[in-house]
Amino acid sequence: MHAVMQRKSVFGSIVESVFDAQAANFWLKKINPIWSVNESLGRIVEKSETASETVSLKIQINKKFNMGQAGQHHPVIVTRNGRRYERTYSLTQLDDAHVLLTAKKVHKGMASTWLCELSKIGDVIEFGLPYGDMLIDKNHAPLVLLAAGSGITPMYSLLKTLVKTKQIENKPVQLMYWVKKHSDAAFKTELEQWAIQYPNFKLHIFYTQEQEMDARLNPEHVQCIENLNTTTVYSCGPSGFVAVAEQMFAQAKVFKSEAFSLTPVINNETGFITVTLSKLNQSVSIPKGQSILLGLEQQNIKPTHGCRMGVCNKCACVKAQGSTKNLVNGAEHTEPGGLLKICVNSAQTDLVIDL
Ligand code: FES
Repeated sequence: MHAVMQRKSVFGSIVESVFDAQAANFWLKKINPIWSVNESLGRIVEKSETASETVSLKIQINKKFNMGQAGQHHPVIVTRNGRRYERTYSLTQLDDAHVLLTAKKVHKGMASTWLCELSKIGDVIEFGLPYGDMLIDKNHAPLVLLAAGSGITPMYSLLKTLVKTKQIENKPVQLMYWVKKHSDAAFKTELEQWAIQYPNFKLHIFYTQEQEMDARLNPEHVQCIENLNTTTVYSCGPSGFVAVAEQMFAQAKVFKSEAFSLTPVINNETGFITVTLSKLNQSVSIPKGQSILLGLEQQNIKPTHGCRMGVCNKCACVKAQGSTKNLVNGAEHTEPGGLLKICVNSAQTDLVIDL
């Protein structure tokens, strides 16, 4: 009887651990640190410096990893001193088992400092599901890519896929890439090699602090694009750069952009706004002119969020009342009822949102 009960108990534990993902993951990771029944994990297998304060990590991914498409972003979760930090990075697929993660060190950035300085071969990184809609379309329409600083990473991923699939042979593609100095230009050798190898690919790198002429994005860059009204333009960089690009390339057939840092268009606003959170049945005062997400966090309210740059939609909620301003492009929204991304919008009047 005792033996039968013991057998049942061992069997029960196995069944339980099969259905208890946490327990199963615990045992799987004893065998291989990236084995998991439900987590998307990767292990660093190579680390190299791509540009000044910028590293590229070659990462071996597990079977649960969802690669998404070239040009998309992934939530990347790193653990420092027992705390998890989630940031968003654009990855490049190298082969079926490896991706490339390129990160630039951000001053006081917990995740970027870990990736650039502290991470080592063998360390494990967790990933979320990919998102973003700067994707390669199937047609042969010309494509113009505008990248500033770290905004090169989704563009590099797009170009790598265009080269790999040979679409670059049929599709005119132009990359304009702005960096401060020569040492800041990532993937330079490979980009230059593609420009020599593929007549359809044009490359222009602008060094804003090392050129005599003002090399920043200006109307001359728009004038050198033939047939802008039949061209798709993608832009990625700091919010100020993206906002200027959006205005200058307004005549493009398709324009899509992603900003990876938030520089408020107008940051001289003063005073406070009352935000009413209908689900929480709570009202708080937050400063005018800064993102609603940041304002709520400063009041110890922690809304769900992901990228903090207006791409993933995780922070979106319905605005029932009030006016808001988009901090990336300055657009004001006064109508009630629309979806509001609180990470990239500030409150202009008292607001009611469904949080
Ligand atoms: S947190 Fe990603 S869109 Fe706001």
